[in-house]
Amino acid sequence: MNDLSNDWQVADNGDEPMSNNSNNPEFATVLEKRLSRRQVLGGSLTAAVAGLFGTAGLANLAVAAPPGAKLPPAALANGKVPFALNPTLGFEAIPLTRTDSATLPYGYKAQTLIPWGTPITAPYPAFDGINGNTGAEQERQVGSHHDGIHYFPMADDPNGHGILALNHEYVDQRVLHVNGPSPRPRPTDEVRKEIAAHGVAIVEVKRTDGHWDVVRGSYNRRITAGTEMELTGPVRGSDLVKTRFSAEGTHTRGTINNCAHGYTPWGTYLTCEENWAGYFVNKSGRPREHSRYGVSTSNGRYSWETAVSGADEYLRFDASATAASAAEDYRNEPNNQGWIVEIDPFDPTSTPKKRTALGRFAHEGVVFGPPQQGQPLAFYSGDDAQNEYIYKFVTKARYHKGLTGDVLDEGTLYVARFNDDGSGEWLALDINDLNFQTAATMAGVEFKDQADVLVNTRLAADVVGATKMDRPEWGAVHPQTNEVYFALTNNSARALADIDAANPRGPNATGHIIRWRERGNRNWATRFDWDIFVLAGPEGDSQVLPAQNGPALTQDNIFASPDGIWFDNSGILWIQTDMSGSQQIGGSASGDFGANGMLAANPVTGEIKRFLSGPNDQETTGVVATPDGKTLFVNFQHPGDRSGVGAFTSNWPDHGAVFRHPDGAEPTVVPRGPRPRSATIVITREDGGVVGL
Ligand code: FEO
Ligand code: CA
Ligand code: CA
Ligand code: CA
Repeated sequence: MNDLSNDWQVADNGDEPMSNNSNNPEFATVLEKRLSRRQVLGGSLTAAVAGLFGTAGLANLAVAAPPGAKLPPAALANGKVPFALNPTLGFEAIPLTRTDSATLPYGYKAQTLIPWGTPITAPYPAFDGINGNTGAEQERQVGSHHDGIHYFPMADDPNGHGILALNHEYVDQRVLHVNGPSPRPRPTDEVRKEIAAHGVAIVEVKRTDGHWDVVRGSYNRRITAGTEMELTGPVRGSDLVKTRFSAEGTHTRGTINNCAHGYTPWGTYLTCEENWAGYFVNKSGRPREHSRYGVSTSNGRYSWETAVSGADEYLRFDASATAASAAEDYRNEPNNQGWIVEIDPFDPTSTPKKRTALGRFAHEGVVFGPPQQGQPLAFYSGDDAQNEYIYKFVTKARYHKGLTGDVLDEGTLYVARFNDDGSGEWLALDINDLNFQTAATMAGVEFKDQADVLVNTRLAADVVGATKMDRPEWGAVHPQTNEVYFALTNNSARALADIDAANPRGPNATGHIIRWRERGNRNWATRFDWDIFVLAGPEGDSQVLPAQNGPALTQDNIFASPDGIWFDNSGILWIQTDMSGSQQIGGSASGDFGANGMLAANPVTGEIKRFLSGPNDQETTGVVATPDGKTLFVNFQHPGDRSGVGAFTSNWPDHGAVFRHPDGAEPTVVPRGPRPRSATIVITREDGGVVGL
């Protein structure tokens, strides 16, 4: 993604190379496998799926439990914006822009909050933008590369006081260190700082006179790529996770490359480990649980394993087998990554739990279907790499108000197969399932136990013939219809000969959003019906609701590479983009889409409007609102990510121009000005109304 990397760095775009070389069995029901895109969109599939989506067949739902713990339901009911199935997008779309600040529609304003380096725990070390921060300071400051975010409202003032939990996906070393990164062997404090800039931040925030600030209270916490964690579920105690740190295979350290997130109906935060594989090196021969995920054979992404101190906490990133047994080295350390981790934001002393039953892959995020009283819960998660899969975990326990996170330790993990006729199936990855056993036998693949299946989730999904998707990013479940939406960001590796109805473009440069409805509106069902919500792209190669012969996108809403998607309480589907540099600045064969930003969509009519665009060279990722919908928190990740050391392509937000309106003055970009910092922006309407309506 940039040409400034040292030779021992991989590209800093956070993406993972394709490692799915499986030769899946073809679908049993492939009818029109090599249909051209036009035939797929306009042909016989239309009738099959038209009318299934949108207003038809609303679920009869129990009201979802409030996402915020410590909050009586009555308090939320009073302050919560009423849900609308068919929301009005009541703002004027902003044009394509590229400027070093946020651009917002008329009638909106914004402030920044918690930029990288903001002190949150005692003794609250101030961020020094000139001389830089140390590893010890970084451990007490907000991390870098903000991504998935959730707001947990507090009972005293749910719309003005809460806890933000957010992910810090990775670091740009050229921006993180004043003089750039030192070559390996890496100075210990640089490694310590990089590890501390990863992970999760838990930050209490409060609004005073319309302005949000950090509360220096006891909830604030940093969880990093070095924090001790516990393994729970079927993989706990497996031989595959035993290390010198935990000979019993019950504990590990750190969560890495936390991209999107989730939360639970019982008020906890879920952080998802995405492109963790590249942080490790294995020079002694990779077992399948390393090779299928792309663990490096030469060096770790940031060469943390070479830290000069040689301390155990850094050596563990070298997963070569060097000792007589797994309990004496770190050959299994990569197997402790790739999970969904549950964190209680209201208990700063709690140990984060890796919930292994939800599978091990490059988890983008996780989202649950609206809970239905007395029924199992379903959690959806995508594996963001080229030609990987979409998964669903269904709890064995049935929903009631007293549930806790332990219900995530028992249930069934499924992977999706999208048939070309618009139907779909969830295929169990369960060693006790007869179909799974048969598929594994026919493929000649052996699994020792369910822990082996879960550590090798990708292989298990290969075996059952899941559908290879165009890089599944965030999912979102419509709170009223139960329809599940997933962003498929792009896929340069899909050949035209390999298109299918669910991934109808090869190569897919601009991505699309797919959606499905579970049979009977039961999120735990094993069959579903799907269609495509939007094919992103330029005006000449895009379409909204293709199964309904919808229109192409226009200058008001062209976009590419959808990544973050989220439903707010007023029924708007928010879409965030993570386009490549060339798609942002022009020169891309697929078009010029301006800066990454955010659009709003009506899920029923397919109306889409551009709402926000961000500063130079950032990705817009992470969005959540207060319960009343009047305050929106949005993250700008890695502004200036094409920067060189001391020569930044963005100075946002510290040059002062946090946001502008479409005809507002351009902020001055100072070539050697302040270092760009990932940050959250807080968006409100100038008249105090609900954002988006
Ligand atoms: Fe970290 Fe898939 O984006
Ligand atoms: Ca990213
Ligand atoms: Ca993402
Ligand atoms: Ca992405």
